[in-house]
Amino acid sequence: MDRIKIFDTTLRDGEQSPGCSMNLQEKLEVARCLEKLHVDVIEAGFAISGPQDFKSVQEISKVIKNAEVASLSRALEKDIDVAWDAVKDAVSPRIHTFIATSPLHMEYKLRMTPEKVLEQAGAMVAYAKKYCNNVEFSAEDATRSDLDFLVRITEIAIANGATVINLPDTVGYTTPAEMEYLIKYVMENAKGAEKAEFSVHCHNDLGMAVANSLAGVQGGARQIECTINGLGERAGNTSMEEVVMALRTRADMYEAATGIDTKQIYNASRTVYNIIGQTAPLNKPIVGKNAFAHESGIHQHGVLANKKTYEIMTPEIVGVQTNNLVLGKHSGRHAFKQRTSELGYQLTDEEVNRCFGEFQLVADKKKTVTDRDLEAIISHHVSAHQIPEAEGYKLDWFSVYTSNFTTATCTIQLKKGDEVFEEVKLGDGPIDAAYNAIDAIIQPKEHVFNTYQIASTSEGQDTLGDVTVKLLADGRTYTGRGLSTDVIEASIVAYIKAMNRLMAEED
Ligand code: KIV
Ligand code: ZN
Repeated sequence: MDRIKIFDTTLRDGEQSPGCSMNLQEKLEVARCLEKLHVDVIEAGFAISGPQDFKSVQEISKVIKNAEVASLSRALEKDIDVAWDAVKDAVSPRIHTFIATSPLHMEYKLRMTPEKVLEQAGAMVAYAKKYCNNVEFSAEDATRSDLDFLVRITEIAIANGATVINLPDTVGYTTPAEMEYLIKYVMENAKGAEKAEFSVHCHNDLGMAVANSLAGVQGGARQIECTINGLGERAGNTSMEEVVMALRTRADMYEAATGIDTKQIYNASRTVYNIIGQTAPLNKPIVGKNAFAHESGIHQHGVLANKKTYEIMTPEIVGVQTNNLVLGKHSGRHAFKQRTSELGYQLTDEEVNRCFGEFQLVADKKKTVTDRDLEAIISHHVSAHQIPEAEGYKLDWFSVYTSNFTTATCTIQLKKGDEVFEEVKLGDGPIDAAYNAIDAIIQPKEHVFNTYQIASTSEGQDTLGDVTVKLLADGRTYTGRGLSTDVIEASIVAYIKAMNRLMAEED
């Protein structure tokens, strides 16, 4: 079995896509999940792109002990200086520098001749190498580049000390057969290729990112760049959970293995979805709600007779619990703690206290509390989304009046520390009225209301409403989430939390 390195770029290529931005605490939470997954490399960010990015790369570099930590940098001295400054405290730092190599990018984006691009690539790899032994070079838009030009730039990068050569499908254009050929061609023709490791980095514009990455492995690549849940620019990047499980399930075909602890996949996926305020599409491979569901009679019959009839991998392998034990209002702290640890959460005593309190409130309103409800409770009460209570506004009480023949009204009382604020406002429905009243109290700085999303945690009329609100300001996204059996209350809490983050301008 060949060993395939997993290079995770959720915190760089994933995070830079619309609606996926994260604050420092959230990035640290994701980085810890990646370490638990045993990814080989964490691309923590693009340090030069702003002070917040720099700080998060720096902090991640300090806390991660069991993975390499990389920062992206253009092939420019100032980028490389900043990238090194951000990763230098990592146990195992990596500088990842890139320049575009396709005729289109060189002419219109870089406005550089191919010869100048070759010279710059060599000089900048050498420059990065002065700081760090571990230097990755990426030929951006490799799949639309001339193959012999790729061979030349690869030779130059390796001659100047690059330890990893990444050939990305930047625009998601290539096909599996082409990708396999491209990797093979460059590895066979570039002098010194045996001194470097080859890597693939695919985007999913035509839905082929996972297939193209696997084809890259067949061509000889030994590193796959990917993101949790396939987050990333446009249609996303190669999905980590899919590519890892494809390699594992079809080891007979690829004769290659990753070091990923697959039992951590489901929790990592949930953590990332919760942080960005999204849920997995029902049919998302590996982590979607239906990924292991067998609905049709024929399938159910087959699975009952022998699971392998319709199941190519077990849900347990990716950390999905199938014994959907339900807790209720008579379940005690012990049962609560046990179930949460079976679900893969290692809560501190303080976190158990916080979540158990919320569990009891939910159990009072709902007959049964399912695993999905528990996951929602934990993600709301243990997540890094929280601003310390004293600093933000909190809902004290609200009252709404609404019907289909009058304008909705909301009266609301918020608290901030010892101060109490009350407002009454009208709106196009109870949530609009509540949000108008909250605006009148908080008087937020300029922003755009970007997303309102409501999801149910489980089946049935008494499900919890899980609301996500996203506000945009200064190019950043401020997310708030609320959870309640009352969707208006959940909506209010989500909005107040997003507002608290907007007003705190924290990162
Ligand atoms: O898609 C791409 O080409 C990239 C590079 C910067 C590695 O993200
Ligand atoms: Zn990319």
